[in-house]
Amino acid sequence: MTTAPTTLVIGATGTTGSRTAAQLTAGGHRVRAASRRATPVDGTEHVPFDWYDPATHAAALDGVDRVYLIPPVGDSDPAATMLPFLRGARAAGVRRAVLLSSSAIPEGGPAVGKVHQALPGLFEQWAVLRPSWFMQNFTGTHAHALSIRDEGVIRTATGTGRVGFVDAEDIAAVAVRALTDEQAPDTDLVLTGPEALGHDDIATIITEVTGRRVVHHRLSYEEMRERLTTQVPVEFAAMLAGMDRAIAEGAEDRVTGTVHRLTGRPPRTFRSLLERETRSPSS
Ligand SMILES: NC(=O)c1ccc[n+]([C@@H]2O[C@H](COP(=O)([O-])OP(=O)(O)OC[C@H]3O[C@@H](n4cnc5c(N)ncnc54)[C@H](OP(=O)(O)O)[C@@H]3O)[C@@H](O)[C@H]2O)c1
Repeated sequence: MTTAPTTLVIGATGTTGSRTAAQLTAGGHRVRAASRRATPVDGTEHVPFDWYDPATHAAALDGVDRVYLIPPVGDSDPAATMLPFLRGARAAGVRRAVLLSSSAIPEGGPAVGKVHQALPGLFEQWAVLRPSWFMQNFTGTHAHALSIRDEGVIRTATGTGRVGFVDAEDIAAVAVRALTDEQAPDTDLVLTGPEALGHDDIATIITEVTGRRVVHHRLSYEEMRERLTTQVPVEFAAMLAGMDRAIAEGAEDRVTGTVHRLTGRPPRTFRSLLERETRSPSS
């Protein structure tokens, strides 16, 4: 008798991992949900997992044949942490790996770009998801969401630059396809929502849907970097401010048809996400 495939979802308490675990389970797939804290996703088996504690790795991989990978948060060299685990995963029988990267990071680029580059050599079936900025940055626990709630303000150095913001539910829907379709994508996938919006547009939509006035404060690159330095290490602050500057210069002003092509339905708009959350704040 063959056992049904089991997917290990790393980062299963996070923004995309929790949604991927929930959608896999809803589709009848077996999920092992990995994180340091216990996961709230119903119908999954939880396994304690810490990227920095190899003693947790073997039990997480036992009986697993595919993995969804969230890199260790805030690690400037995730390849050093992830590649030994991924070699162990392949040796343990994992055949398919789906990695969450970013639209801003190409194959071979900094940080997770090195893991992206190594993935095809490690697994016969693979995908790298490269989403644009998440819509949930304005509704969850991200710094933008907090300043919107506390002060009615979004602060960026993006100027009038536009971004193809994407709903994490749509990222998860693509992850499910990449993990479970008979044929794996075996490529990288740039994921966006249906329209590119500036942060002025985001502030306007929030104001219109919630009835509470929100404004976009345009900062210079230097002002943004100084502000972030009070919250994160200085190199990371410079990198984040640099991403804003790239947006101002047009680097993220694009939309792709990938969500529609893989899931069979168009990606959700920011307005409809907000309307959904305003009706049902926990959704
Ligand atoms: N936000 C955006 O706009 C955006 C855009 C493109 C790409 N991204 C990428 O998205 C990634 C984050 O994904 P996400 O938003 O789905 O996750 P997230 O919400 O940031 O959550 C991180 C997850 O990783 C787990 N985790 C943290 N440290 C861990 C460790 N040492 N060992 C094992 N698990 C650990 C956390 O659970 P525990 O704390 O319970 O362990 C949690 O489940 C980042 O790599 C970022 O670059 C973000």
